Amino acid sequence: MTKNQDIPLIFRRMEAYDMRMRLLKIFTVVLIAGLALFAQEEKKGGKKGPSPFDNPQNLKLLQKDGLRNTMLSFNTALGVMCGECHMANPGGGFNFPSDENPHKNVARMMISMVRDINSKFPDGQQHVRCYTCHRGSTMPLTEPPK
Ligand code: HEC
Ligand code: HEC
Repeated sequence: MTKNQDIPLIFRRMEAYDMRMRLLKIFTVVLIAGLALFAQEEKKGGKKGPSPFDNPQNLKLLQKDGLRNTMLSFNTALGVMCGECHMANPGGGFNFPSDENPHKNVARMMISMVRDINSKFPDGQQHVRCYTCHRGSTMPLTEPPK
């Protein structure tokens, strides 16, 4: 074996680069395998029991269809997690139908407001959504940041 110092620096660098690429490839394969497994678990329904979206109990404004995506869009628009508007169960998880978390009814008011605003546009399109004002925050700005 040659001593490390005998190898010109450029080759030593290349060797280090090769090693990194190999690690990256291994990592990618493991990641893809993991994702495939995860997808399978999802299809089987996993061990989590029925999805709370399958049979909603307390919808006053929204439709069951697309409810999951709507909820995810709320999270993104306000920069929060589900627990911002939903009551946590003492044993873990959430009681989604419950209206005990006051933010949930604020959100209902906001849904009505957004529908009202959009109804003023003559083309029936959604021009304003939660993100339009919230931009990833619970407190929309009323003036430009200083
Ligand atoms: C900004 C507040 C807000 C956030 C954040 C939010 N939700 Fe909701 N969620 C609501 C409101 C409001 C309703 C009721 C809508 C209605 O009355 O039509 C609701 C209803 C639901 C329902 C139906 C419950 C039932 O049986 O009546 C489920 C399930 C649900 N949300 C899940 C989630 C999940 C999961 C997340 C996180 C990914 C989430 N929500 C994030 C406000 C929120
Ligand atoms: C026209 C601008 C506007 C739009 C659109 C809008 N909001 Fe808001 N929202 C506000 C403002 C302003 C506040 C802060 C209210 C205050 O001053 O107390 C707020 C506050 C909230 C809060 C309470 C904050 C908290 O701590 O949880 C929730 C929940 C909320 N909005 C949900 C929504 C959802 C869900 C949508 C879309 C359906 C939405 N908002 C769309 C302006 C808007």
